[in-house]
Amino acid sequence: MSSDTLKRGDLKGIVDEACQVQDQAPEIQSLRPERLAEYIGQKEVVDTLKIAIEAALLRAEPLEHVIFHGPPGLGKTTLAHIISKEMNGRLTVTSGPALEKGGDLIGILTHLEDGDILFIDEIHRLPKTVEEFLYSAMEDFAVDFVFDKGIHARSHRYRLNRFTLVGATTRVGLLSAPLRDRFGLFRNLDFYRTDDLVQIIQRSADILEVTVDDEGARSLAERSRGTPRIVNRLLKRVRDYAQVRGDGRINKALVEAALALEGVDAEGLTRLDRRYLKTIIDYYHGGPVGIEAIAATLQEEADTLVDVVEPFLLKIGMVVRTSSGRKASEIAFRHLGYAVQKKIL
Ligand code: ADE
Repeated sequence: MSSDTLKRGDLKGIVDEACQVQDQAPEIQSLRPERLAEYIGQKEVVDTLKIAIEAALLRAEPLEHVIFHGPPGLGKTTLAHIISKEMNGRLTVTSGPALEKGGDLIGILTHLEDGDILFIDEIHRLPKTVEEFLYSAMEDFAVDFVFDKGIHARSHRYRLNRFTLVGATTRVGLLSAPLRDRFGLFRNLDFYRTDDLVQIIQRSADILEVTVDDEGARSLAERSRGTPRIVNRLLKRVRDYAQVRGDGRINKALVEAALALEGVDAEGLTRLDRRYLKTIIDYYHGGPVGIEAIAATLQEEADTLVDVVEPFLLKIGMVVRTSSGRKASEIAFRHLGYAVQKKIL
């Protein structure tokens, strides 16, 4: 492997250009906080990062490797961008599925400079052969190449610059122990409190130059599944609605009308959330039922249901997971207007 002859162009398709373009698109980037001081919510995560970053800067060392886990839309990518800004390092963005071969990762690693940040999204989806190169890269800032086979095999160690790996995953349980153990900072991102989402809405509304009253902001926050990405997406839909059907200002009635059109109900459930719950109730008598059976009935990917749909429904107690499968709870029956079945009481 002649990694030292790799050029930037060789990284096409591996360094996630689409993702970078999307992440840096002005309208998305502009709603994202760029500094820790602007970040609302996740107080413990933010405090941990503030201390670790300040200490690393004082020692003029790179930040230790960080992993964020939790459901989509809670700020894992945003925090990677913030870390690179706070540490004054360049950010390279890629993802587990984009790195198919060891050479893909090595190409990226050998281009990193001292203090750079490498962000690997969906790190649980790294192929094993690629993951194995990360161990020495993370621990010793080196990669080992093996040339030839059998008795002719020779190993060569290639030194890397001191970088920080920021990993993100929705499935922390799928990480292997050797990878997990090499992260110095290991933080979970949980769903946001309504009060934090209200503040995020007010901040985003200021940036978008739209007026939202307190009741309107609270109503939107309560319907956003505890997720900033959803808050910001729905805020834009409500803003459109306010401009076309109202006087441009956002209040509670307007939020309710606009979100009804989006298929978002009073608990923030989407059409897919309700189809998921109704499948369990209508087809499987309220459960227990396995995720593969639900996915087959819904004609959706089981991974989408596990990563995107279930975390919030579990959090608000609409679904429970048992050793024999998923069950719809009494809260779900009532929310969807079903009579509560005896057996689940
Ligand atoms: N926009 C999206 N997430 C945010 C957060 N946590 N704080 C401030 N603005 C945000």
